[in-house]
Amino acid sequence: MNHFFGKSFLKENDFSAKELNFLIDFALHLKKLKEQNISHQYLAGKNIALLFEKASTRTRSAFTVASTDLGAHPEFLGKNDIQFGNKESVADTAVVLGSMFDGIEFRGFSQETVTELAAKSGVPVWNGLTDDWHPTQMIADFMTLKEYFNKLKGLTLTYVGDGRNNMANSLLMTGAILGVNIHIGSPVSLQPSKKVQNLAFEQAKKSGATLLITDDVQKAVENADALYTDVWVSMGEDVDYDERIKLLLPYQINSELLKKTGKEDTIILHCLPAFHDKKTTIGKKLAEQYELEALEITDEVFKSNNSVVFQEAANRMHAIKSIMAATLGHPFVPEEYFD
Ligand code: CP
Ligand code: NVA
Repeated sequence: MNHFFGKSFLKENDFSAKELNFLIDFALHLKKLKEQNISHQYLAGKNIALLFEKASTRTRSAFTVASTDLGAHPEFLGKNDIQFGNKESVADTAVVLGSMFDGIEFRGFSQETVTELAAKSGVPVWNGLTDDWHPTQMIADFMTLKEYFNKLKGLTLTYVGDGRNNMANSLLMTGAILGVNIHIGSPVSLQPSKKVQNLAFEQAKKSGATLLITDDVQKAVENADALYTDVWVSMGEDVDYDERIKLLLPYQINSELLKKTGKEDTIILHCLPAFHDKKTTIGKKLAEQYELEALEITDEVFKSNNSVVFQEAANRMHAIKSIMAATLGHPFVPEEYFD
């Protein structure tokens, strides 16, 4: 039996600790199958729509390769390629896509859009990032932690930087569900909303995770097994860079901050893309304008032995494969993963 069958994957809070653990463990299993060249075409003959309102490298590539490895056909539908949003409503698009495709990935702005797609399409919908949540990234991130530490419960992950964005929300919520202690180090004006905090603290009561949300960056990073950051301005945000950079510079991941964890083996995570050098158009412009070598993370730490950012990025594909296979085709989930 597979109780994931036909479900959408819209946000972390819709799933129990056991269910999220299954998706993580199944992703680790699928990674081994891929490494050993063992076929796993659970979605043979299926068609998958990849609907993108925002840009993407990892999520788009991961969904494309995962679909193909699973025996399905992926079709990319960019915001300028289809009528969506301009001439056609979300509801009508959902009905049409649902009548032709077996599953739909959506990346875009509003969480309501992905929720409506799921409600109206009649097929599983997977959230490839909205302004609020980035749940497929979570399966890859916690899978990476498990690969490295061989456990999840009791670990401490500190996220520093913009604590109000999709990544901060998702890390806080996923850690709270799974029993991973989450520290958020952010200026008060950029801390998670009360609504997100309340949901996370409710989950933490059940899992035993310790949650700490503070503007004291030193306190936030103490004892961290993993340090995590993200861009200071997210896709689609219209903010004053001057103010944002001033606010977030004390929260940059650099070698000094890394030392403050008090641990030798703290690992570094970042969902990517990252402004760690001046080799991107935006990074170069910002770095020169503000006389900085890097923004949220220094190049030294990004490239250090502690950094697992590219392993984490590669794991996106296995994680997405796990989510698609579980909700659309894989026939069996062991009972230990049921509530
Ligand atoms: N981490 C992540 O979602 O990357 P992309 O924006 O490239 O998909
Ligand atoms: N917070 C970032 C995440 C990118 C994967 C954004 O939304 O742009």
